[in-house]
Amino acid sequence: MPQPSPAYPSSVPVGVDTTRASIARVYDAALNGKDNYEVDREVLAQVRSVAPQVNDLAWANRDFLIRVCRFLARAGVDQFLDLGSGLPTAENTHQVVQRVSPQSRVVYVDNDPSVLVHGQALLASNSRTRIAEADIFRPLDVLGNATVRQELDFTRPLALFHIGTLHHYLGEDGPTLMQNYIDALPSGSFVAIAHFHDPETAEYSELARKMEEKFIHSPMGSGRFRTRDEIQALFGDLEMVEPGLVRCDDWWADGPHLTPLSNVRNCILGGVGRKR
Ligand SMILES: C[S@@+](CC[C@H](N)C(=O)[O-])C[C@H]1O[C@@H](n2cnc3c(N)ncnc32)[C@H](O)[C@@H]1O
Repeated sequence: MPQPSPAYPSSVPVGVDTTRASIARVYDAALNGKDNYEVDREVLAQVRSVAPQVNDLAWANRDFLIRVCRFLARAGVDQFLDLGSGLPTAENTHQVVQRVSPQSRVVYVDNDPSVLVHGQALLASNSRTRIAEADIFRPLDVLGNATVRQELDFTRPLALFHIGTLHHYLGEDGPTLMQNYIDALPSGSFVAIAHFHDPETAEYSELARKMEEKFIHSPMGSGRFRTRDEIQALFGDLEMVEPGLVRCDDWWADGPHLTPLSNVRNCILGGVGRKR
């Protein structure tokens, strides 16, 4: 007797809800990935109605992450705690830093079932890279996580990434949250953050506010565009690495911008701070 067709393709990992948008899958869709569903693409469609270039937010963020990885690996950092890793794509953190220093250790942390399943599959044969499940907005949970503690040596400098993540934190106590992480890092460590930005200018503030409105009222439910001062406060009293907190595209760009940046690229800032 013929069997009824399954509700979803068999490639959908157990535990993945394809009826609710997920931050990781919306981001994957913006980067032209294939691990996303209609409900995720619909979030982008809603934001695209006010910001046609919305995918550029994701690209600016991702390219910043890759340049930060290269910079820190070349600076001698060999331990990375990447909070909110996202779905595997081209040039993941461990691939970039282990190309520079094969002995580098990377721990990814995420709480999205798709990310955990795909991450575990990708990392099965890499003994220096692990993925841990925890809520990245609960620093004490992350810092006490067994995998994080086993893999990383908190007596030596490490790099902590909160890249493309904190705008999904809707609370007002982001600086305190980040201070918990910063306090746990040894001297010489680095913290990298990229965050949606309200430029507070007549030209771009309205664009930021409209995108925020769409993201927050979409099935994804998050995406705050904070001001420069609010984003800077997330670094506490870390010493900012040149050029400081700037548009992601301007943080040690790979070359001159040959064409004008799209408007939305003014709406995401990135920076790297160093603990003295
Ligand atoms: C936009 S992606 C950024 C991925 C990557 N950091 C990058 O910059 O390319 C945000 C990631 O953070 C994860 N995330 C969001 N909130 C989280 C939470 N409370 N705990 C753990 N992970 C979370 C999502 O699942 C997603 O994978």
